[in-house]
Amino acid sequence: MSETKTDTPKKLFIKTYGCQMNVYDSERMAESLEGYEQTDNAEDADMILLNTCHIREKAAEKVYSELGRMKPLKDLKPDLKIGVAGCVAQAEGEEIMRRQPAVDLVVGPQSYHRLPEMEERVRSGKTALDTDFPEEDKFAHLKGRGTKARRAPAAFLTVQEGCDKFCAFCVVPYTRGAEVSRPADRVIREAQELVERGVREVTLLGQNVNAYHGGMTLAQLVRALAKVDGLERIRYTTSHPNDMDDDLIAAHADTDKLMPYLHLPVQSGSDRILKRMNRSHTAESYLRLIERIREARPDIMMSGDFIVGFPEETEADFQATMDLVEEVNYGYAYSFKYSTRPGTPAASRAQVDPAEADERLQRLQTLITRQQRAIQESMVGRDLSVLVEKAGRKEGQMLGKSEYLHAVHIDAANAQIGDVVPVRITRAMTNSLTAEQI
Ligand code: 5AD
Ligand code: SF4
Repeated sequence: MSETKTDTPKKLFIKTYGCQMNVYDSERMAESLEGYEQTDNAEDADMILLNTCHIREKAAEKVYSELGRMKPLKDLKPDLKIGVAGCVAQAEGEEIMRRQPAVDLVVGPQSYHRLPEMEERVRSGKTALDTDFPEEDKFAHLKGRGTKARRAPAAFLTVQEGCDKFCAFCVVPYTRGAEVSRPADRVIREAQELVERGVREVTLLGQNVNAYHGGMTLAQLVRALAKVDGLERIRYTTSHPNDMDDDLIAAHADTDKLMPYLHLPVQSGSDRILKRMNRSHTAESYLRLIERIREARPDIMMSGDFIVGFPEETEADFQATMDLVEEVNYGYAYSFKYSTRPGTPAASRAQVDPAEADERLQRLQTLITRQQRAIQESMVGRDLSVLVEKAGRKEGQMLGKSEYLHAVHIDAANAQIGDVVPVRITRAMTNSLTAEQI
């Protein structure tokens, strides 16, 4: 309990970059800061927190330009405190305060439970920096306010963090640290609390979620969560092909609450490049794995990530990626131009000509868009079920997600937020579907 607590709450503005894990972390941080309520307006804030991403160069640079924009707010309001959290905080530490002196607080992803103390410290006019990897489980120590405030029907829940795979391009093993799983009993309790607060769907998060080992495997955790009354849907992300075990595949066949959607990044279709990426699987083994997953759950919607222009990638390597995408037929796929990350093994290798990489990215994105669009159009006339998340823009319309994660507008809906309703798809648009309730 802080003694400085006043009757009028201070205002907290959080801006979140990057992955879903950051979204989850931002929620937890906001709940841990007693005496604050969240605002959508940076100008009103007494505390600004940027929860940052370091995955690609562009993401990291955005932080500094945003901090530059925030600085004048501090000139107007000297009491305003500015903090940087997340993976840029972890990777750059003190350097952030040197580059942008308006920053009062820098906190790495493993130290969020120390945020309340750090806040008190900056309130007293000092700066605070913490980028440790402490032994203790931050989530167990992260004070919630015991709030029972209603939540949106779909929520993220982090179950595993960090990565031991060391793909040659990736900063995550350095920014998020070694793989750690949260104990299953805590995860299940948190899911029950979320359900009490109105949540109907949880997405279990981890950088390598299918390597989960919190006293159970991920498949066992999914089955345990499926027994939680009131929890209607379960998803998990992100998975590594090498950790996709038989039992998890079987769970897709036998657990109704597990949604038919799987994000399974492969990064490249070329075995030579996969090897250079330190992926320890081949294009062929990935394709066979998808075959087995589709045997278990024929309608599963596949999603993936791709990097183009990885060092030494030739046109033939890139063509192998295009061929793999053709073969898998992804419902969703995310493609990125390789971005050099300091300290990673690939950073010192021969880089692909940027114009060439741009051109490959374009070709891949054209193919991906065509696939996504075709799959989306194939939904027209089909009966799906939608978790209603909010009111739509048009009168009488509600907006939600299908089991395949498509955004669906339900016309003339007769449903409440949090309901799972059967619909028939009537129209496919670029980024969403339209449906009527049945
Ligand atoms: N450059 C480009 N894309 C990257 N990713 C990870 N590191 C890099 C990098 N250095 C992509 C991968 C990963 C996704 C989250 O981001 O495709 O799956
Ligand atoms: Fe970004 Fe990766 Fe960190 Fe998520 S874990 S915030 S994607 S660098």
